[in-house]
Amino acid sequence: MRDLISLVMHLWDRWRFEATPAERAWDAERGVETSAWTIGGYEPTPLALARTILDALPRRDRTFVDVGCGKGRMLLLAREAGFTHAIGVELDSTLFETARANLEGREGLSVINRDARLFPWPITPLVVFLYNPFEEPIVGQVVDRLERSLRDQPRPVDLIYVNPLWAEAFETRGWQVLSDTGAGTSRWLHLQPPSFLGQPLRPPALRPER
Ligand SMILES: C[S@@+](CC[C@H](N)C(=O)[O-])C[C@H]1O[C@@H](n2cnc3c(N)ncnc32)[C@H](O)[C@@H]1O
Repeated sequence: MRDLISLVMHLWDRWRFEATPAERAWDAERGVETSAWTIGGYEPTPLALARTILDALPRRDRTFVDVGCGKGRMLLLAREAGFTHAIGVELDSTLFETARANLEGREGLSVINRDARLFPWPITPLVVFLYNPFEEPIVGQVVDRLERSLRDQPRPVDLIYVNPLWAEAFETRGWQVLSDTGAGTSRWLHLQPPSFLGQPLRPPALRPER
């Protein structure tokens, strides 16, 4: 039942948010291709939602990581929003190749072809972005690896989880929900790791949605 409701809301959101000609125009302006979905895998964050989230982020002096970056749309948007470094990790080799082509020649943007569970987290303050890329138990395994990295090298992390169907993976590990915005598949959480991970700085919370 939860899956059916989620699907209906999802289609509603796509109808509301997806302006395919506009997305294709956005791609064409940049000489990239990020709009076409792939069956059972890639679906880009709708541009309007992506912009709302990026606008709400209080700081840009961090590495932006898109976990399950698909064709790299969020990396391009993060760069345009002022992040100097953005990294994507993508499991699917075809999507990875498309992302690499899309990012080619763009300073500060990179993508690696790997399972997110094996991602070598950059030792920098982070903004981590997930657009519901996978289910449990993978979400939990990705969080575990990130937490291990934070234990070794404490540093600030702001994590944005869009369409957070597996938010329990964070809540059961003691992550704090700083904000909970939107509804359905456009709902997104701003999370921070528990204080016992030794996060030395606590950045300001995101601004509430306008
Ligand atoms: C919903 S799409 C999101 C694309 C992109 N983040 C965006 O917002 O535009 C989810 C992506 O996660 C990728 N993915 C799924 N499982 C993965 C894994 N274990 N490791 C890395 N990427 C994965 C899929 O191939 C797909 O491209």
